[in-house]
Amino acid sequence: MTPHASLPGLTVVAHPLVRHKVALLRDTATPKKLFAELAEELAMLLAYEATSDLPLERGTVETPLESAPAERLPQEAVTLVPILRAGLGMVPGVLRLVPTARVGHIGLFRDHDSLEPVEYYCKIPTGAERGQVFLLDPMLATGGSAVNAATALKQRGITRLKFLCLVAAPEGVRRFHDAHPDVPILAAALDRELNAHGYILPGLGDAGDRLFGTK
Ligand code: PRP
Ligand code: URA
Repeated sequence: MTPHASLPGLTVVAHPLVRHKVALLRDTATPKKLFAELAEELAMLLAYEATSDLPLERGTVETPLESAPAERLPQEAVTLVPILRAGLGMVPGVLRLVPTARVGHIGLFRDHDSLEPVEYYCKIPTGAERGQVFLLDPMLATGGSAVNAATALKQRGITRLKFLCLVAAPEGVRRFHDAHPDVPILAAALDRELNAHGYILPGLGDAGDRLFGTK
C-alpha cells in the first residue's frame, strides 16, 4: 500500500482483486444485486488495509494443550460511520472483518444546484472517540459530503479517523486533504475528473441509486 505520489493524504489500494471488482462495479450492465455485493467486497478489501495499524491488547489464550500469548482488539476499538445513503453499502463488508465494530450514521445529501451537502441526521455511538473511526462513502466527488462528515465527527471528539471510499476524484481528494490533512483517505480507484454536475468521470454513476434501485 503506497501513498499517492502527487495527491497527499490519498492511498489507492491497487490489489488486483480490487481492480477487477472496480471494473465490474463501474459496468453499467452490472445489476443491483451484484453491485451491492461488489461494494461490500471492496469495502472489506479496503478495511483489511485500513485496519493494519490497529492497536492490540496483549493477553493469553488457553489452547487444548497449554496457555499461549494472545493479542486481541480492545472493546470499542472500531466504529464505522457510513454517510447515508450510499455509505450503507460498505458497512456489511467491514463488519465481516470486524464484527465487533459499532455503527453510527451521518445523513447528508448533496443539494442538486449548489452541490453542497445538507446534514439531516447524525448519531454516533458513545465512546467512539476512544477508538478508531472509519468514515465510509463510496464516492468522493467534490468532497463536500466527506469534509462535512469528518468535521461533524471531530466536533464529537473523534481524532482517530480514516476515510474509506470506492471511487475518488482528484478535486475531492484535494478538498478533503486541505480541510482534514490528518485524516488518511483510502480509495479503491482514483478517477480523472468531475463533470459539470459534480459526477465522477469515468465513475460508476450514482452509487446510491445503483445500490438501492431508486432510478
Ligand atoms: C453521493 C455520495 C456521496 C456524495 C459525494 O451522495 O454517496 O455522499 O454524493 O459527493 P460530494 O463529494 O460532491 O459531496 P448523494 O448526495 O447523492 O446522496 P445519496 O447517498 O442519498 O444518494
Ligand atoms: N455521487 C455519486 O453517487 N456519484 C458521483 O459520481 C458523484 C457523487
